Amino acid sequence: MSDKHSQFSRRTVLKTSGVAAAVGLAGCTGGDGGDGGGSGTENEVEVVHWWTAGGESDAIQALIEGFESEYSDLSVNNNEAPGGAGSALSTEIQDRVLQDNAPSTFQIWPGGSLQTYTESDVLADISDSVWDSEMEDAYKEGVRDLSQDDNGNYVAVPLNIHRLNNLFYNVDVLDSAGVDPSTLSSPADLLSAMETIDAETDAAPMAQSTQSAWTVLQLWEDVLVGEAGVETYEAVLESGVEENEDAVRSALQTVVDYREYFNADAGSVAWDEANNDVINGEAAFMHQGDWAAGQYESSEGFDFEDSWDHVPFPGTEGVYHIVTDSFVKPEPNPSPDATDAWLSYVGSVDGQERFNPIKGSIPARTDVPDDAFGPFLSRQREDFDNSNAQPATIAHGTGVSPQVKSNFEEAFASFAGEWNVDRTYSDLTDAF
Ligand code: GAL
Repeated sequence: MSDKHSQFSRRTVLKTSGVAAAVGLAGCTGGDGGDGGGSGTENEVEVVHWWTAGGESDAIQALIEGFESEYSDLSVNNNEAPGGAGSALSTEIQDRVLQDNAPSTFQIWPGGSLQTYTESDVLADISDSVWDSEMEDAYKEGVRDLSQDDNGNYVAVPLNIHRLNNLFYNVDVLDSAGVDPSTLSSPADLLSAMETIDAETDAAPMAQSTQSAWTVLQLWEDVLVGEAGVETYEAVLESGVEENEDAVRSALQTVVDYREYFNADAGSVAWDEANNDVINGEAAFMHQGDWAAGQYESSEGFDFEDSWDHVPFPGTEGVYHIVTDSFVKPEPNPSPDATDAWLSYVGSVDGQERFNPIKGSIPARTDVPDDAFGPFLSRQREDFDNSNAQPATIAHGTGVSPQVKSNFEEAFASFAGEWNVDRTYSDLTDAF
């Protein structure tokens, strides 16, 4: 083992990520999800990911099938670490890295989230083995940049691009309330629409999960963009909340106002369970990344435009608030060549063409043909191409360091219990 993989640098993985206290250096959760992990061979790629929700698990399955048919001598150990937005995965991975038991590859947001690992030097440089010039040409510069460490070496391969600033809705529920979503041009308009839905129907005006901090944090992010604009939002990402106090507080207050219209069980359901309320006609709106659309597409008889539809979150038209997923190669690696093959496949047209239409995302490559994408994702692709801003996100790790993200999550975990704007604002002033 080289110096850079010393136990010391592994301990820094935990230190810099701020989860040391929660995990404990002796704890071991490695490989306890799905089919189990750890004991890979060099022809078996252990893939750790959190895609277990409706649509998402079909999408990763399709990717794995494509890989196994292209590389018939290799196989995949599909190891799930369930928990929306990776709420369980990073702890599991960091623990395994500490124990020299890293999987072949794992799911991670490129950009800020990589920092935990690149600072401890535990991700392989895949510039030569994976990122050939054909692949480089197929990615936009901004997406390529997210995939590199501070020295400009590639360490990740982006698979997809999700949009966060969506407002999904159940067509029948809105019709029966007489609400036209195309007229909603601000977060305040959405609040009025929810008042109407509450008065006119039995449905919950907004399906929401408040069980984990990330779902509330991401709602606040898009309310902030919708009320104050992208520049203010990006200023918060860069320099903290204090210079934008009014905007930050106002967006918190709007979320508190929305809360009155959430499904009664918001505190005890996961995002996909809340989304079932939209599918069943028990809720009207859903703010969520377009992985929620993957769930609609996988629900029999719940069809785009007839049953569900979408507008950009009110006030955020022209914005494509980006969430992207990638895979990386931890070092030392149990299956180095097979892992390179997996990463090349993740970065291929075939892989992205199989995965994204089911996942509800658009491809990270620019040259994946349109044919495989249904009308909803074709519309999203068009919106992406015409978008005038593609900001990063806090809740999904691309826009801030892991430490700042974890501070935000802590603040929003309290917010989601107390709904106290003053307290949360004050917590956020300490986040940076
Ligand atoms: C995001 C991730 C998506 C989706 C979502 C819900 O962070 O990028 O692919 O899985 O969480 O878990």
